[in-house]
Amino acid sequence: MIDRRTLIAGAGSAVAASVLGAPLASAARRSGGAFPKGFLWGTSTAAHQIEGNNINADLWVIENLPGTMFADRSGDAANSFELWPTDLDLVKGMGLNSYRFSLEWARIEPDKGHFSNAMLDHYKAMIDGCRMRGLHPAVTFNHFTTPRWFAAQGGWQNPEAPDLFARFCDRAARHLAGGIGHAMTLNEPNLSGVIGEILPRQLMEGDRKMQLQAAKLLGVASYSPGVNLWVENAAVYRANQMEGHRRGAAAIKAVRSDLPVGVTLAILDDQAVGQNSMRDRIRERYYGEWLRLAARTCDFLGVQNYERKRWDANGALPPPEGSPRNGGGAEVWAGSLAGAVRYGWEATRLPIIVTEHGVNSDDDALRAWLIPAALKELKAVMDDGVPVQGYLHWSLLDNFEWGFGYHHRFGLHSFDPKTFKRTAKPSAAVLARIARANRV
Ligand code: BGC
Repeated sequence: MIDRRTLIAGAGSAVAASVLGAPLASAARRSGGAFPKGFLWGTSTAAHQIEGNNINADLWVIENLPGTMFADRSGDAANSFELWPTDLDLVKGMGLNSYRFSLEWARIEPDKGHFSNAMLDHYKAMIDGCRMRGLHPAVTFNHFTTPRWFAAQGGWQNPEAPDLFARFCDRAARHLAGGIGHAMTLNEPNLSGVIGEILPRQLMEGDRKMQLQAAKLLGVASYSPGVNLWVENAAVYRANQMEGHRRGAAAIKAVRSDLPVGVTLAILDDQAVGQNSMRDRIRERYYGEWLRLAARTCDFLGVQNYERKRWDANGALPPPEGSPRNGGGAEVWAGSLAGAVRYGWEATRLPIIVTEHGVNSDDDALRAWLIPAALKELKAVMDDGVPVQGYLHWSLLDNFEWGFGYHHRFGLHSFDPKTFKRTAKPSAAVLARIARANRV
């Protein structure tokens, strides 16, 4: 299986980091590269990708099916369910001041309507642990995976889904909201149900078969997990996620009205090339309705960017020859983050937090190059007046990259799958240096 964003971005051949060139001429350093006081510097993670043994999550069933398309089972992951204090120490040790992580709904509500105080306390300890270390907790209430029972009742296609999510948000907020710095409802819901349009048929068909197989195994009519390529009814899925976000955000606000609440969207830097470029149609298709909803319901927008895409009148152009590529073959272009941030702000006029940006690569030199190069571009956009409040790098650790398992690596740290010992990569020091200086 393949990840959703890489599919949007397309593929190509990999080249070494040594060919990296200057990305954007426009990176003027108008204010000497200094970021505003209080700028959030952090790393991002998601529960299912690092915690391990998330056995009540929808995806556990899919990963463990005989003949699954997943490259690996999530298994122990980085064992961050136990080792979260170590992880927070790593973040603090880098001189960062923020940590984004997600609540695992499947742990907090392992059976429908039964909430676990012990698990809520677990996440409360993490939030307190952030605060004790001077880290601003940015908490995603739902990062893709849902409880197994939720998927078995139709997932986001169940008419009850928005209420079920809002009830979860209410319970979690009542336990946790006091310590949270920024709250996010859903992660990248703008890709739900539209990704299939550009997928090779066999991937969609494979995913559909896995969902049918899971339904059969569990003796239910359908099984719709939160990580998917195929959904039966995209319009219903999307409408329910939008309503879930609305009600979830309202539930969090009802508990703590001064807590900034947002949503995170996957935004490519889509660039128009030539006359009649299809760029604007693509933007409307992939981001339009979510950007409008965010503008009405959010205090900030989380922008997640990894790539750019150039569109002419007929479609996407291949990456320029010789351009640096990520581990999946897509182009790595340092200006893409700034372009996506500018677009997200122009469309919503909301303050922006970069809630994810990074690169899938075994070549850490590429990551070490990308971080300062992208931040220079981001700073230039900020100097133009775009209000960016933070940069949270994806990711603190190598982790379970969904369908790619442990074969795609985004981490500033690697970990040993037996001892779980974390090891910093050189790029961690690069981000640390920028964050400590608060300048690039
Ligand atoms: C997701 C992460 C994922 C990352 C890298 C984003 O789409 O939010 O869960 O690991 O990008 O692919």
